Parts: sequence; C-alpha cells; structure tokens
Amino acid sequence: MKRYVQLENVQKVFETKKGRFVALRDINLSVHEGEFVSIIGHSGCGKSTLLNLITGLSTASDGVLLCAGREIAGPGPDRAVVFQNHSLLPWMSCFDNVYLAVERVFGAQESKTQLRQRTHDALKLVGLTDAAHKFPHEISGGMKQRVGIARALSMQPKVLLLDEPLGALDALTRAHLQDELAKLVAAIGCTTIMVTHDVDEAVLLSDRIVMMTNGPAATIGQILEIDIPRPRERLALAQDAHYLRLRGEVLRFLYGRQYIAA
Ligand SMILES: Nc1ncnc2c1ncn2[C@@H]1O[C@H](COP(=O)(O)OP(=O)(O)OP(=O)(O)O)[C@@H](O)[C@H]1O
Ligand SMILES: [Mg+2]
Repeated sequence: MKRYVQLENVQKVFETKKGRFVALRDINLSVHEGEFVSIIGHSGCGKSTLLNLITGLSTASDGVLLCAGREIAGPGPDRAVVFQNHSLLPWMSCFDNVYLAVERVFGAQESKTQLRQRTHDALKLVGLTDAAHKFPHEISGGMKQRVGIARALSMQPKVLLLDEPLGALDALTRAHLQDELAKLVAAIGCTTIMVTHDVDEAVLLSDRIVMMTNGPAATIGQILEIDIPRPRERLALAQDAHYLRLRGEVLRFLYGRQYIAA
C-alpha cells in the first residue's frame, strides 16, 4: 500500500510570552492511501496541533510533512477539514455553505449547473436534501455536523481530516453519525485522519489508533492496529472478545501509564 500522508521527525514549538513551548516532538507517522487512522490522547496533548500541521493551517518548527509525496506547504483542496465547532457561516443556508466550498475547488472549470449538482449530491450523501434551504440556526447540532461533513466531502478530497467531528453530540446521534461516517468513507475511499476522545468511536472506525503521550513535548506513545473485519456491527462488537481486548488496550494506555505520569 502507498504511503499517502507522511510525517518525519515533526516538531512544533510555540513562541509564547513565557518563552518557547514545545507542543510536539519526534512525530513519525505514515498513513496509507484509503486508511482510517484515529488520533487519541488526553485534552491538551497536541492532537489539534498535529491535525493543523497536516491541513497546512500551521507550519512545523522542524521535520518533514508530505501528502502524496509532496511537501505540505499550506491548505489545499486535496485535504478537507471538519472542525469540532461546525464552523458554518450563519448567514448562509446549508446549500450555500456547501456550494461555497464546491465553487472554490471546481469553480474555475465547471458550470454553475454542475456546481449546484455537486452541492446537491454532497447534501444527499449525508441525508440533508430536505434541509438544504435551512440556515444553521434552524437545524440541530447533528445536522450542522452533517453539513460540515457534506462540505468536506463535496471537495472530493484525497484526505479527510476530522477534529472531534462528533464531540458535541448526544450519544445516540453520535452513534448514528459514526455508522454513517464509516459507510461514507468506505464508499468514497478517501484517506481519513480523525481526532477523537472517544475510545469506542476510535476502535469502531479505525484501521489504526495513534495514541499520544501527554504534553508538553507530546509524541506518539503507541500505535494499535484494529484488525476487525468490516463492515463492523456496533451491537455484535459490544460482546466480541477481540473488540473488548483492543478497547481495553486503549483504555490502559490512556488511564494507566499516562494518567499516573500526568
Ligand atoms: N497558538 C498557540 N500558542 C501557544 N500554545 C498553543 C497554541 N496552540 C496550542 N497550544 C498549546 O499546545 C498544546 C496542545 O494544544 P492542542 O489544542 O493541540 O491540544 P488537543 O490535544 O487538541 O486538546 P483538546 O483535546 O482539548 O482539543 C496545549 O498545551 C496548548 O495550550
Ligand atoms: Mg483539540
């Protein structure tokens, strides 16, 4: 399998009023094409910082970041992001929020009709055709997240970057969207990197889970392979010995050594 996103000896230092703050050190990670990787770790360890480096929204202090063999030099349409706080434009309808992204990526070479069709298709993927005309304040939190996911998918990205995309949702909506996300990503086949706090979510969705040590100077503590065949059935897995073993391993990492060290 091709290495798609590659991080080599990545370091991130913030210059603060109190001096240098080393957020990340010695980050080495290769994500293969089509792979689903989760990043898990305690609050403040540097997960968003790491994701922002891959989006190109911020730059590394040291090390090399590659996407499809090219150095990541800034944000690009090959990498779409879904932020935790939906980040929809409140004065635009769901349709227009997605259309804006579509226009930015495909506007130069496609007609308005084609752009509108792409927007419709993306909203349909996440089951929001009927809410297309609504404004962000008129829809639920789960629906807002789905618009955010539609917007990202509409760009047909090679890499989907998700920063706790389902973090603010109730457990039932969250479970439903996890299942939807697994299906969408499988259908589209994009490489996905997702930050999460949720151990079950990570095990259910991922091919590998990257577990980060606590900051400052956080790094990758352990990488766990999730070799559970797909499609994965939430209810069946709840009693599956192998699933429980993998889940236990993540919990041990988060609340064992790390917790005591913190
Ligand atoms: N622009 C910045 N300037 C200085 N320090 C920063 C900056 N951004 C993040 N940090 C620090 O870097 C560390 C990692 O922050 P980050 O937001 O990546 O954590 P996180 O793992 O995403 O946390 P959470 O799970 O709560 O979202 C924190 O100590 C934070 O205070
Ligand atoms: Mg974060």
